[in-house]
Amino acid sequence: MNAELLLTFTLGCDRAYLYAHPERELTADEFTRYEAALNERARGVPAQYITGHQEFWGMDLIVSPAVLIPRPETEHVIEAVLGLTRNFGGGQECPPHTMRIVDVGTGSGCIALALAKELPLAEIHATDVSSAALEIARANAARHQLEKRIQFHETDLLKGLGGGFDLVVSNPPYVGESEADQVQLEVRKFEPRNAVFAGPTGIEVIARVIPQALMALKPGGWLVFEISGTIANSVRELLRGWDEVGITPDLQSIPRVARARKPA
Ligand SMILES: C[S@@+](CC[C@H](N)C(=O)[O-])C[C@H]1O[C@@H](n2cnc3c(N)ncnc32)[C@H](O)[C@@H]1O
Repeated sequence: MNAELLLTFTLGCDRAYLYAHPERELTADEFTRYEAALNERARGVPAQYITGHQEFWGMDLIVSPAVLIPRPETEHVIEAVLGLTRNFGGGQECPPHTMRIVDVGTGSGCIALALAKELPLAEIHATDVSSAALEIARANAARHQLEKRIQFHETDLLKGLGGGFDLVVSNPPYVGESEADQVQLEVRKFEPRNAVFAGPTGIEVIARVIPQALMALKPGGWLVFEISGTIANSVRELLRGWDEVGITPDLQSIPRVARARKPA
């Protein structure tokens, strides 16, 4: 599968072309480039960092080792947000054109871009501490003609963004260094440490996001974020005092998306 993907990448073609042209031989240059890609993969580099692409929410995104490779599970975060925005304020208090959303730790920009695409009238902000990640996120926004829709901020979580948000969304780092040996070697070796690990237990970044989101949200606004099963109980504890707290599972029945509403 990887060999096939890397071959389509080398030839700049799709799978259908490979199957339609079994007789096609590689030129010397193509062979050298294909061999280099295979060698990278053999040393564990994720295929997405070799090809520079990953699909998310039907969009082809650029990725580099500066950003986490967007995961299919994170699409559950988008579904949760869209489910909430559909009913937001009963469509009265907050019609979509006034909805203000911020994506904390945007990485490749996948969440901000998907929401910009789905909510054409919303005002969308995206933050990250990594300038290299923001560069990729901006490139992705431009690639999908969404650059005017998203305001990017290089900052720590929500610092400097002020208040008045209807929705804070995030896929924060949530793996604990104590569980590093359960994380795939490829992830540990090649994905940005700052994107994966939160601190010793995994809850450290979320523990800072929650009170900051409380300040940034309007009364009745929503916080939606990705979690893992390991931290689900700690997350519930940290969300004490919020309304309508819920955690929904992913397709593997692992607790994956937490949501909570700032009391009105
Ligand atoms: C798990 S990745 C998620 C990236 C992207 N949102 C996604 O879903 O694929 C977490 C992101 O948070 C960023 N990050 C880590 N600590 C941060 C902080 N204190 N403030 C802002 N961003 C932070 C990392 O640089 C990384 O891009």
